[in-house]
Amino acid sequence: MRFAKPILFAIGFAACLLVAFAAVKAVRLFQDRPPASASGIAIATGEAKLGGPFTLTNHEGRRVTDADFRGRYMLIYFGFAYCPDVCPTELQAMGRALDLIGPEKAKKIVPVFISVDPARDTPAELAKYVKAFHPRMVGLTGTPEEVAAVAKAFRVYYKIGKPSAPGAMDYLVDHTSFLYLVGPDGDFAALYRGGTGAEALAEALEAAVK
Ligand code: NI
Repeated sequence: MRFAKPILFAIGFAACLLVAFAAVKAVRLFQDRPPASASGIAIATGEAKLGGPFTLTNHEGRRVTDADFRGRYMLIYFGFAYCPDVCPTELQAMGRALDLIGPEKAKKIVPVFISVDPARDTPAELAKYVKAFHPRMVGLTGTPEEVAAVAKAFRVYYKIGKPSAPGAMDYLVDHTSFLYLVGPDGDFAALYRGGTGAEALAEALEAAVK
């Protein structure tokens, strides 16, 4: 039994590697800090079941569903038009990333802004807002229930803050900041962390969009 010990050791070592690999994969699914590789801003890919069917109203006042976007990728960001800093920064990065990847790939992607502040973000407000970030950006809003449903499907957290006086419209909305890529088939494709800038986003989109 001279070889029993080294063989057992090798099997044990291989098992440890497998467990470690599985653990790293699991953690990557929902960590909010950058992964080790500099190029990867994706914190989840297709295997995470995010998103689903929705019915909302676009910035032209038309009722739209997720099915209307089939055949193209959707790059979605959830936020609110009165957001003082985070939302405009992310939406700017989205628009710039689409410019960086060139027209051939960019035309396969619809940049989408979904409001989590339907009381203030009317279609008319969104029409003015999305134009500032990309000529093809689509703004989506809806009833509070419709917005809550789509946010839940994408596991977006948001909370309407307190206004300065009862009934005032100067509240802020606390919300998570991620970008979601939905494939041409309507299936979830990737989750990107916010705050990465246009270049990193463009790089991720280059790799993800076929
Ligand atoms: Ni915001």
